[in-house]
Amino acid sequence: MNHAWISDAPRLELGFLPTPLVPLERLSARLGGPRLWLKRDDCTGLATGGNKTRKLEYLLADAIRQQADAIVTFGAVQSNHARQTAAACAAAGLPCHLVLARKVPWPHPHYDTSGNVLLDRLLGADVQVVAPDAFADARAALLDRLERDGRLPYVIPVGGSSHVGAMGYTRCAMELMEQSRALEFALTDVVHASSSAGTQAGLLAGFAGLVLDGDGTAPRVHGINVSEVDPTVLPKDVQRLVGEVIAERGLDAAVAAEDVRLDDRYLGDGYGLPTEATVAAIRLLAGTEGVLLDPVYSGKAFAALVDRIERGEFAGVDDVVFIHTGGTASLAVYDTAFI
Ligand SMILES: Cc1ncc(COP(=O)(O)O)c(C=O)c1O
Repeated sequence: MNHAWISDAPRLELGFLPTPLVPLERLSARLGGPRLWLKRDDCTGLATGGNKTRKLEYLLADAIRQQADAIVTFGAVQSNHARQTAAACAAAGLPCHLVLARKVPWPHPHYDTSGNVLLDRLLGADVQVVAPDAFADARAALLDRLERDGRLPYVIPVGGSSHVGAMGYTRCAMELMEQSRALEFALTDVVHASSSAGTQAGLLAGFAGLVLDGDGTAPRVHGINVSEVDPTVLPKDVQRLVGEVIAERGLDAAVAAEDVRLDDRYLGDGYGLPTEATVAAIRLLAGTEGVLLDPVYSGKAFAALVDRIERGEFAGVDDVVFIHTGGTASLAVYDTAFI
């Protein structure tokens, strides 16, 4: 089916799409709950892959349309978004500037230099690692410098979560509808790690638009909050971004507040700090299916999925899709969690 509101949005092809949707047969049998499926967005292809690649396809297309000649973005030190932006910029021939804040109290001797940071540098990005209270000044100084140099920077928000970036996950929603149909199961429940709202907003707006086009019914989207201590923040951000995507694409659709599902039970001590259950979930998927998760996002969200199945929260559901949003590049600086 042609969905013009998706296909008409300017897009730079950067990823290997569609990503595979694969059954987790051994793990499903072991857990004894619904049949589990893994949407392999860790295989989007851009320098170890991940969910930001989908967003960057739209963000860099927008930057090029605006004739930007430098890309600026931000994140935590081990930001997967920053690393994929660095890779996307290398592929598009655009200079990339990253300002990374030391906001995670994870004591590792190579935290500032290994994992994603190693890849950022390898991919040719200009990288500044700063203390959280120096972040605003570093950002302002960078933008001043680029302006003085006569550059036209395109600024991508944290996590690539603007309405432009969120378009990447409308496309993922479309892939999930098509793939579940081809695999002959009812798409009722989708689970993923949620942090800067773009993935969840893109999925919700995407499913709402696809339903309008007569393309099936919208599944429940279960975001697992892996970053916000205040549980009111993320639902509001998701709802706002859904509204922006819907308005920008001219869709006569709406997503109700009760359809913005965020589970706050699995954050533990905070963003970037894996819980015992996170570590156990990473070991479980690695050991039963040979698939790696990460300690900050996908591992925490997968631990939530396992716990919710064990609590019987998916009783009566036949199939659950987990979106593997990537992040394994940071495993190197979390080696101590696995000893
Ligand atoms: C591996 C991984 N999973 C999930 C997310 C969350 O996606 P979003 O920020 O769109 O909510 C991120 C974002 O940083 C990520 O890097």
